[in-house]
Amino acid sequence: MAILLEDKINELQQRIEKMKKEDKYFYLKSIDGASGARVTIDGREMLMFASYNYPGIINHPKIKKAAIEAIEKYGAGTAGVRLLAGTTKIHEELEAKIAEFKGVEDAVTYSSGYVTNLSAISTLCGRGDLVIIDKLDHASIIDGCMLSGATHKSFLHNNMESLERVLSNSKEYVNKLIVVDAVYSMDGDVANLPEISHLAKKYNAKIMVDEAHSIGVIGKTGHGIEEHFGLKGVVDIHMGTLSKTIPSIGGYLAGDKDLISYLKHTSRAFIFSASLPPVAAAIAKASLEVIENEPERMLKLHKNGKQFREGLNSMGYSTMNSTTPLIPILIGEEEDTLKLCRLVHDEGIFICPILFPAIPKGTNRLRAHVLANHTSEDINKALDIFEGAGKKLGLIR
Ligand SMILES: Cc1ncc(COP(=O)(O)O)c(C=O)c1O
Repeated sequence: MAILLEDKINELQQRIEKMKKEDKYFYLKSIDGASGARVTIDGREMLMFASYNYPGIINHPKIKKAAIEAIEKYGAGTAGVRLLAGTTKIHEELEAKIAEFKGVEDAVTYSSGYVTNLSAISTLCGRGDLVIIDKLDHASIIDGCMLSGATHKSFLHNNMESLERVLSNSKEYVNKLIVVDAVYSMDGDVANLPEISHLAKKYNAKIMVDEAHSIGVIGKTGHGIEEHFGLKGVVDIHMGTLSKTIPSIGGYLAGDKDLISYLKHTSRAFIFSASLPPVAAAIAKASLEVIENEPERMLKLHKNGKQFREGLNSMGYSTMNSTTPLIPILIGEEEDTLKLCRLVHDEGIFICPILFPAIPKGTNRLRAHVLANHTSEDINKALDIFEGAGKKLGLIR
């Protein structure tokens, strides 16, 4: 049933006011300065566990230098769409760098990761096609399916029998595209790429992988899901954002050069939307270089993730099936989740609650992102705080 817009706005506003009154509103916190392992919020230094910049390179001098040089050379923006007057040398250099980083022929960039998913799915699939998605895929993938006009079906999360059931009933569709997150953005587990690629071959489907939380995160040197599994060339369309590990803005698709040329000449978000500012392209390119040139960051990131996850598990917290530095701390009830968040915030941990309907009912959680520039002491301090708060609330013994 349709609800009057004013009523919807009022209802949400009342909910926000109530949360604020009860000191349980943790959103839209303003960070004063660069977002690193520590941040300043409301004049107080806090340990950052909510940032997606896993390698910890937001304040990296080489990246800042590349940004300043790009501003000096290209000015502020391009004031044009890429196809017409909006392509500069730095856009081309970035796309070549992304292609090299992913070990494919070419790449194309868009103005955000969200738009990239919308654009990829709605350009590559339409009526008569089938998009097959994991139940926990990111919202932008679901929105891309809806925009495309293709049929879309979901399979149970990372459940390969469920995926095969969908594929085995897909004969009537012309094109079949399986779309998965490489690392699931709310759960921190990794898509079962070996089995997905086996099934895709068996049923003649293509694979698109969203690497928003896997580039610069998984794989020994941070090159993502194919490196993680030691599988080369099984993904047809590599999607990623330039806004998380890579601390800029934008998104990319990478793959065979003819596919990328097709996208550059037919995807509406490329043709009808202005290009990334050159400074954003320069930051993204320099960030990929830093990730490759400083492999010790990946070692540290993986070590920190393990330390935090194992520490939480040993206290009795569930971190679900996470095997990455994206670590959910599963609580269950919304009220308990918000209370825990309040206590750890008071002790100096900046972390966000993830509540229904962003995740399935009854699985409310705090979502921690461990960074390469957390020290071992930072992780231990956070663990002590979680232990104290969890015991106080009776969530752990
Ligand atoms: C898995 C996944 N895909 C896509 C996006 C969208 O990326 P962006 O923030 O660059 O628009 C996100 C962002 O949260 C994400 O987690």
